[in-house]
Amino acid sequence: MQTWDAVRARRNVRDFSDRAIPDADLDRILDAGRRAPSARNTQPWDFVVVTDRERLIALSHVWRGAGHIARSAATIAIVAPVPTDDRQAGLNQFDLGQASMVMAVTAADLGIGSGHAAVGDQQLAQSLLGFPNTHFLAYLLALGYPADQPLKPLTQMDRRSFGDVVHRDHW
Ligand SMILES: Cc1cc2nc3c(=O)[nH]c(=O)nc-3n(C[C@H](O)[C@H](O)[C@H](O)COP(=O)(O)O)c2cc1C
Repeated sequence: MQTWDAVRARRNVRDFSDRAIPDADLDRILDAGRRAPSARNTQPWDFVVVTDRERLIALSHVWRGAGHIARSAATIAIVAPVPTDDRQAGLNQFDLGQASMVMAVTAADLGIGSGHAAVGDQQLAQSLLGFPNTHFLAYLLALGYPADQPLKPLTQMDRRSFGDVVHRDHW
């Protein structure tokens, strides 16, 4: 796909086919996240990529809205340092968002769907993933080929209109 097509094709996918993701494609998605910009280039992320079915099922219990993790071909667990203050927390969240989005668009470019999940149970997450106490599981990004339709640029989206969002020269 062209970049503009990949941007328009990305949508949250929560039902995945049984098809495995080639290792090279998974690595490309992870590398895209690694290359994301961050405040002062702090790169406040580690990625734990999970493909083992039992572990994916267990991971889906970290949040009530994470059921799709169990059905994914792979899930990227985005682990971040526990912030020292509110300013760092805000910057880190922005940076994690950038890393997530570039991974989602890179996946879409490869025809691979992605679906976020938030995290509620940090103890369960830590016991499954083994990250140190200095860190927490910020988000999960499920990956896999969509079970319904292949990704293609969307013509209609559930979004505020362009005119409502965009302000020119002043609000
Ligand atoms: C920070 C963040 C957290 C999200 N958490 C969840 C979640 O826990 N479970 C879920 O099913 N979707 C989750 N989503 C997906 C959003 O609901 C989805 O992106 C939004 O409805 C727009 O739909 P689209 O991605 O198909 O455009 C999350 C998205 C973001 C950006």
